[in-house]
Amino acid sequence: MRSIDFLTHDHTLFRDREVFEADFVPEQFGHREAQVRELAFLAAPGLEGNTPSCAVLRGPPGTGKTTSVLRLFSEIEEATRRLAPVHVNCQNERTRYAVFARVLEHLAGHPLPTTGTPLPEVLRRIARRCQERKCALLVCLDDANYLAAGDELNAVLSTLLRLHESFRSVRAGVFAVISDMDLDLRREVDARVFSVFHPAEVLFPPYTADEVHEILAQRVGQGLFPGAMDRIVAFAGAEGDIRAGIDLVRKSAEHAGREGRYRVLARDVVAVAGQVRAPALRRIAARLRKPERDLLVVLGRISAAGGAAMGPAEAYRAVREEIPLSYTTFRERLKTFEKDGILALPLVAGEGRRREIAFRYDPMAVMEACQEYTVP
Ligand SMILES: Nc1ncnc2c1ncn2[C@@H]1O[C@H](COP(=O)(O)OP(=O)(O)O)[C@@H](O)[C@H]1O
Ligand SMILES: [Mg+2]
Repeated sequence: MRSIDFLTHDHTLFRDREVFEADFVPEQFGHREAQVRELAFLAAPGLEGNTPSCAVLRGPPGTGKTTSVLRLFSEIEEATRRLAPVHVNCQNERTRYAVFARVLEHLAGHPLPTTGTPLPEVLRRIARRCQERKCALLVCLDDANYLAAGDELNAVLSTLLRLHESFRSVRAGVFAVISDMDLDLRREVDARVFSVFHPAEVLFPPYTADEVHEILAQRVGQGLFPGAMDRIVAFAGAEGDIRAGIDLVRKSAEHAGREGRYRVLARDVVAVAGQVRAPALRRIAARLRKPERDLLVVLGRISAAGGAAMGPAEAYRAVREEIPLSYTTFRERLKTFEKDGILALPLVAGEGRRREIAFRYDPMAVMEACQEYTVP
């Protein structure tokens, strides 16, 4: 078979390949109605050119934050010219200059000249565009935690929210998206800036297993001919991040394509599952501090070896033999892991307030992810 034939085969396997791309915005977007409605409500003053309200969107990775914003922003763009919504991915734009350059590019509709326009000039041009268009600005700082290092987040927020002080009738609101559940914006942001920001908090909890099932089934139905759906959902459910499921679907179909088949079989899923391992887990591990990762490695080992469910007290006794830490610190760290979605601490049925430690990922995968980041 010529290599070009693989590609053609691959095409026939996908009804629509684009639906598995990371930046695909799905048509069907359930389970987030409340959050999208809340965001629309906050943006609403902007539709008449007034100042949009600010928000912090908070939730672990893969909970639909970016998609909610992108969908709302495209509705706004269709509905009015009085509000300019700009989505900025702070993983890519990590400095105040990069953020504002992105905002100006969006307003101008073309990239900035690479010669480097100084920041005050960039701000002036942003303001001029807004004044000419008589529009308010709504800037989404997506994954704003990437700006928290240094003083960039403070600078971006205070500049945006004070634009109207330097430029008449230029009004801006900010949606800050935070995937790092440990980040406390009140601590990161100056009290003075926070008081002009005073964001409403919009929470994005992890999807339940049923929701994951439904979302993936929709995506598969849209993008792929029927295949090994149950297998995929079983893998993706264990990963806890919907993105892993979508990735797995795409890679499984590619694998089938490479073997010249039109149907995705369970063995395609098995063959590629290793490559899709826990992107969420790696992201979480990267955010944890070293003592936290060390603790997870020990907990993972205990859990992998133990078999039977263990409670926090028993786990603490075992951990203390390897890591000196107080019970209070231990409990705090468990809470962190719970918030990040690595662990659950469910009540043990029929045993009152007794809880058990349950890994939401394969403990071996957790240990691997943590150890990867321990390597200097
Ligand atoms: N409710 C949903 N329905 C359909 N697809 C979803 C839903 N929530 C998330 N997704 C998909 O999951 C992936 C991750 O969502 P995203 O919005 O990027 O999450 P976050 O920004 O919270 O990390 C995207 O591919 C998105 O299309
Ligand atoms: Mg996102």
